[in-house]
Amino acid sequence: MSAPRMVMHMLLDRLTPHDRLRQPEPDLVMDAPAQVQAFASSGANDGPLTPIYLYLAMQASSAIRRGGRVLDLACGPCNQLSMLARLHPETEFVGLDLSDTMLDLARQTLDRQGVQNVRLVQGDMRTLDGFDDASFDGVFSTLSLHHLPTVDALCQATRSANRVLRADGGVFLADFGRLRRQATLDFLVNDRASEQSPLFTQDYMNSLKAAFSLGELEQAATSLGRDVLTHVTALAPFMVILRRRISDEPSRTRAMDAARQAFQAMSDSHQRDLLALANWFQAAGLPLPMSLRR
Ligand SMILES: C[S@@+](CC[C@H](N)C(=O)[O-])C[C@H]1O[C@@H](n2cnc3c(N)ncnc32)[C@H](O)[C@@H]1O
Repeated sequence: MSAPRMVMHMLLDRLTPHDRLRQPEPDLVMDAPAQVQAFASSGANDGPLTPIYLYLAMQASSAIRRGGRVLDLACGPCNQLSMLARLHPETEFVGLDLSDTMLDLARQTLDRQGVQNVRLVQGDMRTLDGFDDASFDGVFSTLSLHHLPTVDALCQATRSANRVLRADGGVFLADFGRLRRQATLDFLVNDRASEQSPLFTQDYMNSLKAAFSLGELEQAATSLGRDVLTHVTALAPFMVILRRRISDEPSRTRAMDAARQAFQAMSDSHQRDLLALANWFQAAGLPLPMSLRR
C-alpha cells in the first residue's frame, strides 16, 4: 500500500465535513457459497487479510487469560480465530456464527490446521441465546459488527456480550469505522484489486459502506462496562478497536513469541502491510505489544 497516497486519502477524509449515510450489508449473514469461499480465501495463508489478522491477534492477546474461555462473535471461516487459538493453546475458544455455510468452512479450517481448542456454535450475536450469564472470561470479534443491521442491533450485541462476560473480563472488538469520502473507499478497496478476487473486492466495498461511525461504536461500547478503551487509526477511523485489557503477562509473552514466528514466516509484502497498520495505530497512541523487525 502506498503510504503517501494513504495519508492523503485519510487526511482528505478527515477534512470532509459531512458524514456519509450508512448502507447496511446486502447480505447480513454470509451464506452464499461463492461469497463465503471468496472471504475465506482472502484470510487463508497468503490472502490479503492475513497481516490484519495477525496484527489484531497480537493486540487481542492482552484481553485473553490462559485457562479462560473466550467467545468470538461471528467467527466466519475461523481464519482469524484459528490464528488467535494457536497463539493461546491453553485458552478455550467458542466461535459463534449465524451461517451454517461459514461454520462448515470454519470446521475445515480448524481441522486443516489441527486446532483443538475451538468449539463452534451456530447462533446470533445479538441475543447470545443458550449462553449463561458471566460464563466467559473474554469476548472477541473482528470485522463482523458491521454485519448488524442497525445501531440498535449493535447495542443489543454489546449488551449481550456484557451479559455473558464475567465482571471485568477481557474485551476485544475490532471493525472498520465509517469513512466519509467515496474516493477513500475506492482507494482502499482497489489498491490491491489485482491480488484479490472480484467477489472479495465487492465484499470489502460493502463492508466499508456498512461500517458504523466512531460515535456509534463508542455508544455501543458503553454497554461493556468500565475501562473499555477505544483505539482508532490516526487521521480517520479506517479501523476501530474497543478493548479492555486484563493482566496475564506470562500468557501474553508466550503468545508474542508465537506471533513473532508467524510474522517471520509471512511474505515481505504482508510484513509491510502489518507494519503499516501497526504504525497507523501507533501514530494514534496504540503501540504494538512488542517490536517486530524485518
Ligand atoms: C465478514 S465475516 C467476519 C468473520 C471473522 N470474524 C473474520 O474476521 O474473519 C462476518 C460474519 O458475520 C456473520 N454474521 C452476520 N450477522 C450475524 C449475527 N447476527 N450473529 C452471528 N453471526 C453473524 C456472517 O455470517 C459472517 O460469517
